[in-house]
Amino acid sequence: MTRRDGTDRALLQVLDGKPSRVPPAWMMRQAGRYLPEYREVRARAGSFLDLCYNPDFATEVTLQPIRRFGFDAAILFSDILVVPDALGQNVRFVEGEGPRLDPVHGRDEFARLKQADDPSIFQHLEPVFETVRRLRSELPAETTLLGFCGGPWTVASYMIGGRGTPDLAPARALADTETALVEALIDRLVSVQIEYLSRQLEAGADAVQIFESHAGSLPRAPGATADALQHWSFAPIARIVDGVRARVPGAKIIVFARGSGLEGHARVMAETGADAVGVDWSVDLKALRGAVTPRTVTQGNIHPETLIEGGEALDAAVDGVLEATEGLPHIFNLGHGITPQTPIAHVERMLARLRR
Ligand code: CP3
Repeated sequence: MTRRDGTDRALLQVLDGKPSRVPPAWMMRQAGRYLPEYREVRARAGSFLDLCYNPDFATEVTLQPIRRFGFDAAILFSDILVVPDALGQNVRFVEGEGPRLDPVHGRDEFARLKQADDPSIFQHLEPVFETVRRLRSELPAETTLLGFCGGPWTVASYMIGGRGTPDLAPARALADTETALVEALIDRLVSVQIEYLSRQLEAGADAVQIFESHAGSLPRAPGATADALQHWSFAPIARIVDGVRARVPGAKIIVFARGSGLEGHARVMAETGADAVGVDWSVDLKALRGAVTPRTVTQGNIHPETLIEGGEALDAAVDGVLEATEGLPHIFNLGHGITPQTPIAHVERMLARLRR
């Protein structure tokens, strides 16, 4: 029987450290362009940010993959870059190219950003909280609702570079020459993300994920030591985790530190205080499970290209995840977001293999 209080949500059980015979499943970017019903709403909504800030449309596209595939979790439809937008930085999404922001080159642009306690930041983000409230009332009781934000380093890298930059050269250069300024920017983001995630949880999210998608640029930085990852990513994330738990006791938090390698992934739980570590596709799940405690909750890590390939390669990848995590607390996911060219039939095949 389904209880209304959510205590039987399969994904929350696993986040509590209880293994499940069939791991609960969701996909990063599960609401997106590979779905015709998403493209239809997207065309009606106007710009991508209009879609993010419209609770009717954002609720609808969040629910689409749940209806189609019965995932165990829905992830709020929004973007990590609504936060710089709310801070007053000019953010837009260029069709076919991705996000563009007026870059923070130095002190002048930083001084124009809103202070962390400026109430207009959260007025601006109110449609996101409204979307969370609607989702919780419309989702099936057994479906976990995930909120999210970007990791401070990842968001700062877009704010500084003004766009996605392959090796984050602008952000790393500014962190070298204007260290105190970049630290102040990270501090600002830590404070805002604590409030932002707390309000998502208060509005009805069951758990949240922090997307540190650009963690990988840190250990590889010229002259960097393991400390770069700790200094710019894990320590700020730990402050978010602590801050959110102080506001919302018992808050459940998944940290996805993409590109940080086997060693970085293995450090996530201890150094950030997360409840679960999101694993990217470049890390061997079996090796990672060998490097963490049996109680560690992992999530991931099918390669999005294996999902495009489909067939027996996909079946083998699903079996590999099940084998690596048998009897252990694991959430089934991709190792990064699903891409627009992925056939829907392959998502169905992946889930059928998982749930057989
Ligand atoms: O996972 C979900 O379904 C929830 C929604 C979600 C989106 N973006 C929707 C989106 C989430 C959790 C994100 C996170 C996000 N956004 C990250 C971290 C995760 C990751 O993928 O590494 C980053 C780095 C961003 C910034 C961002 N947003 C970029 C670089 C782009 C352009 C690239 C692209 O795929 O087009 C976006 C746009 C974006 N965010 C789309 C979606 C569905 C596609 C835009 C469209 O529909 O036109």
